Amino acid sequence: LSNPEISGEQSVKIVLLGDSGVGKSSLALRFVTNEFRPYSESTIGASFMSKSITVPFSPSVRNDEGQGTSDSKTLESRQHQRTIGLKIWDTAGQEKYRSLAPMYYRGAEAAILVYDITVPASFVALQDWALELQHNASPELMLVICGNKSDLGECRRVDRGVGEAYAREMGAVYVETSAKDGQGVEDMFSGVAMRIP
Ligand code: GTP
Ligand code: MG
Repeated sequence: LSNPEISGEQSVKIVLLGDSGVGKSSLALRFVTNEFRPYSESTIGASFMSKSITVPFSPSVRNDEGQGTSDSKTLESRQHQRTIGLKIWDTAGQEKYRSLAPMYYRGAEAAILVYDITVPASFVALQDWALELQHNASPELMLVICGNKSDLGECRRVDRGVGEAYAREMGAVYVETSAKDGQGVEDMFSGVAMRIP
Protein backbone atom coordinates (compact mmCIF):
# COMPACT_ATOMS: atom_id res chain seq x y z
CA LEU A 1 0.00 0.00 0.00
CA SER A 2 2.55 2.57 -1.04
CA ASN A 3 -0.07 4.78 -2.70
CA PRO A 4 -1.28 7.19 -0.01
CA GLU A 5 -4.64 7.58 -1.78
CA ILE A 6 -5.26 3.88 -1.25
CA SER A 7 -3.64 3.35 2.14
CA GLY A 8 -5.36 6.45 3.60
CA GLU A 9 -1.98 7.75 4.69
CA GLN A 10 -1.96 11.42 5.63
CA SER A 11 0.11 13.67 3.38
CA VAL A 12 1.56 17.13 3.75
CA LYS A 13 2.62 19.60 1.08
CA ILE A 14 5.90 21.34 1.85
CA VAL A 15 7.47 24.08 -0.29
CA LEU A 16 11.15 25.05 -0.23
CA LEU A 17 11.82 28.73 -1.03
CA GLY A 18 14.94 30.90 -1.01
CA ASP A 19 17.72 32.40 -3.12
CA SER A 20 19.49 30.43 -5.82
CA GLY A 21 22.43 28.50 -4.40
CA VAL A 22 21.33 28.34 -0.76
CA GLY A 23 20.88 24.56 -0.98
CA LYS A 24 17.14 23.89 -1.35
CA SER A 25 17.60 21.03 -3.82
CA SER A 26 20.49 19.68 -1.78
CA LEU A 27 18.33 19.58 1.37
CA ALA A 28 15.55 17.72 -0.45
CA LEU A 29 18.05 15.29 -1.97
CA ARG A 30 19.77 14.66 1.38
CA PHE A 31 16.43 14.00 3.06
CA VAL A 32 14.93 11.79 0.36
CA THR A 33 17.97 9.82 -0.89
CA ASN A 34 20.68 10.62 1.71
CA GLU A 35 23.00 11.86 -1.06
CA PHE A 36 24.95 15.09 -1.53
CA ARG A 37 26.20 16.55 -4.81
CA PRO A 38 29.00 19.12 -4.52
CA TYR A 39 28.19 20.43 -8.02
CA SER A 40 24.42 20.43 -7.97
CA GLU A 41 22.64 21.97 -11.01
CA SER A 42 20.49 25.05 -10.47
CA THR A 43 16.82 24.05 -10.55
CA ILE A 44 14.72 24.91 -13.61
CA GLY A 45 11.10 25.74 -12.77
CA ALA A 46 10.65 23.44 -9.80
CA SER A 47 11.19 19.85 -8.84
CA PHE A 48 9.14 17.42 -6.80
CA MET A 49 10.21 14.72 -4.36
CA SER A 50 8.33 12.72 -1.79
CA LYS A 51 9.07 10.51 1.16
CA SER A 52 6.94 8.89 3.84
CA ILE A 53 8.08 9.07 7.43
CA THR A 54 6.72 7.80 10.70
CA VAL A 55 6.70 10.32 13.52
CA PRO A 56 5.28 10.53 17.03
CA PHE A 57 2.23 12.66 17.62
CA SER A 58 3.15 15.99 19.12
CA PRO A 59 0.97 16.25 22.26
CA SER A 60 1.28 20.06 22.38
CA VAL A 61 -0.31 20.24 18.94
CA ARG A 62 -2.98 17.65 19.70
CA ASN A 63 -4.04 19.36 22.93
CA ASP A 64 -4.94 22.54 21.06
CA GLU A 65 -7.79 20.75 19.35
CA GLY A 66 -10.10 20.83 22.35
CA GLN A 67 -12.95 18.46 23.09
CA GLY A 68 -15.00 16.15 20.95
CA THR A 69 -12.41 13.81 19.47
CA SER A 70 -11.95 11.51 22.42
CA ASP A 71 -12.46 8.34 20.35
CA SER A 72 -9.76 9.17 17.84
CA LYS A 73 -7.51 10.47 20.60
CA THR A 74 -7.75 7.20 22.48
CA LEU A 75 -6.91 5.30 19.32
CA GLU A 76 -4.02 7.61 18.51
CA SER A 77 -2.52 7.61 21.97
CA ARG A 78 -2.48 3.82 21.79
CA GLN A 79 -0.57 4.00 18.50
CA HIS A 80 1.64 6.95 19.55
CA GLN A 81 2.85 7.51 16.02
CA ARG A 82 1.65 7.95 12.48
CA THR A 83 3.03 7.80 8.97
CA ILE A 84 2.90 10.95 6.86
CA GLY A 85 3.77 11.33 3.18
CA LEU A 86 5.86 14.46 2.70
CA LYS A 87 5.28 16.00 -0.75
CA ILE A 88 8.21 18.32 -1.21
CA TRP A 89 8.13 21.07 -3.87
CA ASP A 90 11.65 22.33 -4.44
CA THR A 91 11.32 25.70 -6.19
CA ALA A 92 13.92 27.44 -8.38
CA GLY A 93 15.61 30.37 -6.66
CA GLN A 94 16.66 32.24 -9.80
CA GLU A 95 14.82 35.55 -10.15
CA LYS A 96 13.31 34.63 -13.54
CA TYR A 97 11.26 31.87 -11.85
CA ARG A 98 9.98 34.00 -9.00
CA SER A 99 6.49 34.45 -10.48
CA LEU A 100 5.99 30.65 -10.41
CA ALA A 101 6.33 30.46 -6.64
CA PRO A 102 2.64 31.04 -5.75
CA MET A 103 1.73 27.87 -7.66
CA TYR A 104 3.90 25.95 -5.22
CA TYR A 105 3.15 27.68 -1.91
CA ARG A 106 -0.59 27.83 -2.55
CA GLY A 107 -2.19 24.93 -0.70
CA ALA A 108 1.04 24.10 1.12
CA GLU A 109 0.87 23.23 4.82
CA ALA A 110 4.47 24.25 5.44
CA ALA A 111 7.05 26.53 3.85
CA ILE A 112 10.76 26.08 4.52
CA LEU A 113 12.54 29.38 3.84
CA VAL A 114 16.20 28.63 3.28
CA TYR A 115 19.22 30.94 3.44
CA ASP A 116 22.95 30.30 3.36
CA ILE A 117 24.63 31.24 6.69
CA THR A 118 27.70 32.43 4.72
CA VAL A 119 25.70 34.79 2.43
CA PRO A 120 23.95 37.74 4.17
CA ALA A 121 22.09 38.68 0.96
CA SER A 122 20.35 35.30 1.05
CA PHE A 123 19.03 36.14 4.53
CA VAL A 124 17.70 39.48 3.25
CA ALA A 125 16.01 37.64 0.36
CA LEU A 126 14.45 35.21 2.82
CA GLN A 127 12.76 38.12 4.59
CA ASP A 128 11.14 39.14 1.29
CA TRP A 129 9.80 35.59 0.97
CA ALA A 130 8.45 35.67 4.51
CA LEU A 131 6.59 38.93 3.81
CA GLU A 132 5.21 37.63 0.53
CA LEU A 133 3.88 34.55 2.33
CA GLN A 134 2.39 36.68 5.11
CA HIS A 135 0.41 38.61 2.50
CA ASN A 136 -0.46 35.87 0.01
CA ALA A 137 -0.34 32.46 1.65
CA SER A 138 -2.77 30.79 4.01
CA PRO A 139 -2.54 32.16 7.60
CA GLU A 140 -2.34 28.51 8.67
CA LEU A 141 0.91 28.00 6.77
CA MET A 142 3.65 26.63 9.02
CA LEU A 143 6.85 28.62 8.56
CA VAL A 144 10.34 27.20 9.02
CA ILE A 145 13.43 29.42 8.75
CA CYS A 146 16.42 27.31 7.77
CA GLY A 147 20.03 28.48 7.94
CA ASN A 148 21.79 26.00 5.65
CA LYS A 149 25.51 25.14 5.17
CA SER A 150 26.22 24.85 8.89
CA ASP A 151 29.29 22.79 7.90
CA LEU A 152 30.84 26.10 6.72
CA GLY A 153 30.80 27.54 10.26
CA GLU A 154 34.17 29.24 9.90
CA CYS A 155 32.78 31.30 6.97
CA ARG A 156 29.57 32.19 8.80
CA ARG A 157 28.32 35.72 8.12
CA VAL A 158 24.82 35.57 9.63
CA ASP A 159 24.81 34.96 13.39
CA ARG A 160 22.57 32.20 14.59
CA GLY A 161 20.99 34.64 17.05
CA VAL A 162 19.93 36.93 14.19
CA GLY A 163 18.18 34.05 12.43
CA GLU A 164 16.55 32.90 15.64
CA ALA A 165 15.31 36.39 16.54
CA TYR A 166 13.78 36.82 13.10
CA ALA A 167 12.07 33.44 13.31
CA ARG A 168 10.63 34.33 16.70
CA GLU A 169 9.31 37.62 15.30
CA MET A 170 7.62 35.73 12.44
CA GLY A 171 6.22 32.95 14.66
CA ALA A 172 8.42 30.53 12.74
CA VAL A 173 10.50 27.54 13.72
CA TYR A 174 14.27 28.08 13.39
CA VAL A 175 16.70 25.36 12.33
CA GLU A 176 20.27 25.14 11.07
CA THR A 177 21.18 22.40 8.65
CA SER A 178 23.91 21.06 6.44
CA ALA A 179 22.87 19.20 3.32
CA LYS A 180 26.55 18.31 2.99
CA ASP A 181 27.04 16.44 6.27
CA GLY A 182 23.33 15.86 6.96
CA GLN A 183 23.27 17.80 10.23
CA GLY A 184 19.70 18.80 11.18
CA VAL A 185 18.10 17.74 7.89
CA GLU A 186 16.08 14.74 9.09
CA ASP A 187 15.04 16.66 12.22
CA MET A 188 13.83 19.59 10.14
CA PHE A 189 11.51 17.50 7.97
CA SER A 190 10.31 15.26 10.79
CA GLY A 191 9.70 18.40 12.89
CA VAL A 192 7.36 19.65 10.16
CA ALA A 193 5.56 16.31 10.04
CA MET A 194 5.16 16.25 13.83
CA ARG A 195 3.57 19.70 13.87
CA ILE A 196 0.90 18.79 11.32
CA PRO A 197 -2.38 18.72 13.25
P1 GTP B 1 18.52 26.89 -7.12
O1 GTP B 1 18.03 25.59 -7.63
O2 GTP B 1 19.29 27.66 -8.14
O3 GTP B 1 17.45 27.71 -6.49
O4 GTP B 1 19.61 26.59 -5.92
P2 GTP B 1 19.41 25.62 -4.66
O5 GTP B 1 18.93 26.42 -3.51
O6 GTP B 1 18.61 24.44 -5.02
O7 GTP B 1 20.92 25.20 -4.33
P3 GTP B 1 21.60 23.78 -4.56
O8 GTP B 1 20.97 22.74 -3.68
O9 GTP B 1 21.65 23.51 -6.00
O10 GTP B 1 23.06 24.05 -3.96
C1 GTP B 1 23.90 25.07 -4.47
C2 GTP B 1 25.34 24.73 -4.15
O11 GTP B 1 25.56 24.71 -2.75
C3 GTP B 1 25.76 23.34 -4.67
O12 GTP B 1 27.09 23.42 -5.13
C4 GTP B 1 25.68 22.47 -3.43
O13 GTP B 1 26.57 21.39 -3.50
C5 GTP B 1 26.08 23.46 -2.33
N1 GTP B 1 25.48 23.13 -1.04
C6 GTP B 1 24.18 22.90 -0.78
N2 GTP B 1 23.97 22.65 0.52
C7 GTP B 1 25.19 22.72 1.11
C8 GTP B 1 25.65 22.56 2.47
O14 GTP B 1 24.90 22.30 3.41
N3 GTP B 1 26.99 22.73 2.68
C9 GTP B 1 27.87 23.03 1.69
N4 GTP B 1 29.14 23.18 2.01
N5 GTP B 1 27.47 23.19 0.41
C10 GTP B 1 26.15 23.04 0.12
MG1 MG C 1 17.62 23.89 -6.70
